[in-house]
Amino acid sequence: MSEVTLYLGDCLDVMRGMADNSVEAVITDPPYGLDFRNKEWDAFIPMWIAEARRIAPIVMFTTAPTTLWDYPRPDWVNCWYREASNSRTAAGGFNHWSPVVIYGKIKFPVDSIKLHAIQHAYPKGFPHPSPKPVILMRWLIENGTDQGATVLDPFMGSGTTGVACVQTGRNFIGCEISEEYFRIAEKRIAQAAAQLHIPFAPMCESDGN
Ligand SMILES: C[S@@+](CC[C@H](N)C(=O)[O-])C[C@H]1O[C@@H](n2cnc3c(N)ncnc32)[C@H](O)[C@@H]1O
Repeated sequence: MSEVTLYLGDCLDVMRGMADNSVEAVITDPPYGLDFRNKEWDAFIPMWIAEARRIAPIVMFTTAPTTLWDYPRPDWVNCWYREASNSRTAAGGFNHWSPVVIYGKIKFPVDSIKLHAIQHAYPKGFPHPSPKPVILMRWLIENGTDQGATVLDPFMGSGTTGVACVQTGRNFIGCEISEEYFRIAEKRIAQAAAQLHIPFAPMCESDGN
């Protein structure tokens, strides 16, 4: 049974309260900054990356081709997945390659990483503007961690990483700053647990303060 802990609040506050190497992996889909790029966001990037890398030996996250170079190098690798997307904010339309940034030692050879034609099968009107496919998050989780591991998603949005963790037998810690999205995540993760007949009891819910 997966343990699920959800925080409503700023992920930086939550991460600063976590011990070094306290989870096996940070797997996430941060805001890309495509439509709101500003100085605050530029300053925030190295802060959240530093916290994530302090907390976990493996950090993996999706980004956009144009924002890939925002992230500290040289010690990352990147792999690419091909996305067929109906996401409202998807840059490049319906069929494009998107990068995944990876820090840390992963189990698979990097040059073999190619994910093809992942469908964003979310219905029109899905209540989050940029959900990731569950299958993509499952793929990252299954290649980056073992069963029973704990995964942190600091930017959980509608909770896709949490759904993928429950489905693959990983524990999940999620943070989301928007109460609207937080509630959606809570519901989706509960539904994923119910489908597997797993009792769902989030360990804690706080505003991160
Ligand atoms: C790209 S979306 C993640 C979408 C998610 N992968 C899904 O499938 O629904 C990024 C999320 O990060 C949240 N966010 C932005 N800044 C945050 C912060 N400082 N702390 C926590 N969440 C934050 C946004 O509200 C947004 O829902």
